[in-house]
Amino acid sequence: MQTTITGLGSYLPEKILTNADLEKMVDTSNEWIIERTGVSERRILSKEESSSTMGAEAALAAIRAADISVKSIDLIIVATCSPDGMFPSTANRIQAIIGAKNAVCFDINSACNGFLSGLIVGNSLINSKQYNNALIIGSEALSRLVDWSDRNTCVLFGDGAGAVILEKSKNDAFGIVDFQFGSDGNNGDLLFATGPGSIKNELVKEAKIIMDGQNVFKHAVNTMSAVTKDLLKQTNLTIEDIDLCIPHQANIRILNAIAKNLSIDEGAMFSNVNKYGNTSAASIPIALTEAFYANMLNEGDTLLFTAFGAGLNWGSVILNWGQINKPEK
Ligand code: UT7
Repeated sequence: MQTTITGLGSYLPEKILTNADLEKMVDTSNEWIIERTGVSERRILSKEESSSTMGAEAALAAIRAADISVKSIDLIIVATCSPDGMFPSTANRIQAIIGAKNAVCFDINSACNGFLSGLIVGNSLINSKQYNNALIIGSEALSRLVDWSDRNTCVLFGDGAGAVILEKSKNDAFGIVDFQFGSDGNNGDLLFATGPGSIKNELVKEAKIIMDGQNVFKHAVNTMSAVTKDLLKQTNLTIEDIDLCIPHQANIRILNAIAKNLSIDEGAMFSNVNKYGNTSAASIPIALTEAFYANMLNEGDTLLFTAFGAGLNWGSVILNWGQINKPEK
């Protein structure tokens, strides 16, 4: 049985933080940020917003597109590494906001690979025949974790949310084809966030992202290239079979290096990192929604998703796109 995406949506906070704004905050320049990352601007959530409020907006857009009732949602899986709090889960909070009272809810923290993990967990649970559908959300309020005095990291990240509805496919030609994942806990200190947490028996209150940029860059290029090659082999596909690659939007240089390693044509590699920066678990569903509304997804297209992030965790998923209706916006 195949499961397929039947609705999708995204939410980006209104506030835009430009490179010119960052020039006033840290010792950096628009030229440096664009040349080294490809990012021109990113979105920053308001004081009233959180991962759950942004995720709920994206979820409601996906539910509208799938044309299903909120009460029929069986599962809510939220991928986030910037949850509203330690507990309850962001999925439970979103359940309450949207009124999906029949759903079973939990979060996944696999950092930038989180949305793909959520997609495959949802796929497996639907295949277990216990559930008919799943609402998979990636939502990140990374601006709350960023150290705004650290130029090595603060230029990269942004806030936002994206969501999809996953259901049993009515046509076996459409849906998730296969996946590959990997993890390396030994390199966890290359990219991590301090508190809040229970490490050393105390709650560390000050949250900050700390990253060894160069090392993470190399791992990102190598592992996303390698896991995609493995998945293509596993599925007996070649890169020519991929109509569009929608990678985690980490850095334009990372995407260009992967495209070169895998011989992906320029037009077959989707990027919107210039507008939103790295939104971690939200980046793939935001990008997918943008590609959908830009009419870049055709029925029968073979899509490749690939992601890499803290953990370290990485993965690739191949999906045959079944067209869905665009709701009135
Ligand atoms: O989703 C996965 C999560 N993370 C990532 O994917 C991030 C992966 N890493 C990267 O994207 C890149 O490593 C960065 C964008 C973070 C940094 O780019 P880089 O080309 O690796 O630069 P670098 O760290 O080697 O630094 C080069 C120089 C250094 O100065 P010196 O030592 O050569 O004098 C840095 O201090 O650039 C300096 N620098 C900056 N200069 C201006 C670092 N950040 C900045 C900045 N503005 N924002």
